[in-house]
Amino acid sequence: FKMEKNPKQIYNGYIKGGIMRGKFIVFEGSDGSGKTTILNNIKEYLDEHGYDYVLTREPGGTRIAEMVRDILLSNHDEEMSHRTEALLFAASRAQHVDQIIRPNLEKGKLVISDRFYMSSLAYQAYGRELGYDGVMSINEFAIDGIKPDCTIFFNVDPITVLNRKKKQVEADRLESEEDSYHKRVYEGYQKLLEREDDNLIIIDARKSIEEVTKASLDKLLEIIGG
Ligand code: TYD
Repeated sequence: FKMEKNPKQIYNGYIKGGIMRGKFIVFEGSDGSGKTTILNNIKEYLDEHGYDYVLTREPGGTRIAEMVRDILLSNHDEEMSHRTEALLFAASRAQHVDQIIRPNLEKGKLVISDRFYMSSLAYQAYGRELGYDGVMSINEFAIDGIKPDCTIFFNVDPITVLNRKKKQVEADRLESEEDSYHKRVYEGYQKLLEREDDNLIIIDARKSIEEVTKASLDKLLEIIGG
């Protein structure tokens, strides 16, 4: 076995505002869509084939954002107000954009993020019923013009998720929210899917992990020209 000496560069970045910009791909989906497992499989493939990329996640991805993540996901913060929650997600996103996403895109790198502001629209605007406009406006401020080139969305209905979830033992604060919340998040995502543009790819995530991995990997490679 030989280590790949020259990682595969993604040469199809483009020039924006006079600077080279890499591609920014976001993976989205509700809890239980298998997103984490599928992203691990994709990571394995990209590593094996010597791709040069940055994989990051929300909420988190930087030291400060990980600290905010701990506050958000801690089981002890049941008294957190929904607006505080929305602002903390947006705050961790701003840090993530400034420290990881923008600098790497400016280097022409492929950046893959596990969730981005579409999550806040689904979970905070619809799930917490804070409304689209308010949540969108704090996120416009947070992302500072950085939008995904493509969002790959794992679509799965709440019934399938519930059945998958029964196998899980421990749930964090957000996961242990009542079913009506998750139903609103699901319906919120469906509304966003109707609203969103051609940069959105919807994958049927009711299928097996292997099938969903293959479908999303094929799409990803198509986008990055690999
Ligand atoms: P995480 O453990 O990363 O879950 P997953 O593997 O499903 O991504 O926790 C992220 C949780 O935070 C998840 O329940 C979705 C929620 N979330 C929001 O409510 N708003 C947001 O803006 C983001 C990024 C995540």
